[in-house]
Amino acid sequence: MRKPFIAANWKMNKTTADTREFLEKFIPGVKDVTAVDIVIAPPFISLAGAAEMLRGTNVALAAQNAFYEEKGAYTGEISPLMLSDVGCRYVIIGHSERRQYFFEDDGIVNRKIKAAKKAGIGVIVCIGELLAEREGGRTFEVLERQIEKGLREIDPDNTVIAYEPVWAIGTGKTATHEQAQEAHAFIRGRLSVLYGNRAGEFCIIYGGSVTPDNVDSLMACEDVDGALVGGASLKVESFTRIVKFGKVQ
Ligand code: PGA
Repeated sequence: MRKPFIAANWKMNKTTADTREFLEKFIPGVKDVTAVDIVIAPPFISLAGAAEMLRGTNVALAAQNAFYEEKGAYTGEISPLMLSDVGCRYVIIGHSERRQYFFEDDGIVNRKIKAAKKAGIGVIVCIGELLAEREGGRTFEVLERQIEKGLREIDPDNTVIAYEPVWAIGTGKTATHEQAQEAHAFIRGRLSVLYGNRAGEFCIIYGGSVTPDNVDSLMACEDVDGALVGGASLKVESFTRIVKFGKVQ
């Protein structure tokens, strides 16, 4: 059995003070949730402060990006080694916004995953199709390419795959649980081809307009192991409810 994995992706939101205020309320509210891996990914500038607040709690820290080199003349970049040093357990790699605005392709994603793993950090690797690709019937072809190129020679250990249909991100338009289950089952099938029995070790989580209202039906899908939550993770109440999916508050 894979442990459910629920992660907050704050994107470019919240100052250090906002982060502190959120965590002060959030940490005590989820301290008894032992059956779920809970992860928060604030902006880089809040990582050190958040790491201190999260030490000894059941909430892990993630970064939203990392470069693929350890150190050197790469102005503005942050290396996985630095993230490990500051206390990150995970890093999000290949988010569709990185692919769209910062031109990251599957080759870059692959290098970033390898660099993070070398530094001992787990990865949350985002894949997913654009609206035009879904409408053109190319969803599976896109997912297959992203898996085969992006995950080339990657060990399943500490690798979480986030299926995020790009048309569902920040749009309020969630995939139906049938669409999510279908894509997750496809991803699991492709992973079986590449990894054999070890495919079962991958957590495959869903992202794209997850809210307290739809999390229960998404989490009820056989192949949905968790959620990557953007907008609804910015408020303590809604993210707490998502972390406690399936429970009446
Ligand atoms: P959203 O973002 O929940 O705001 O749609 C999800 C994500 O981009 O990870």
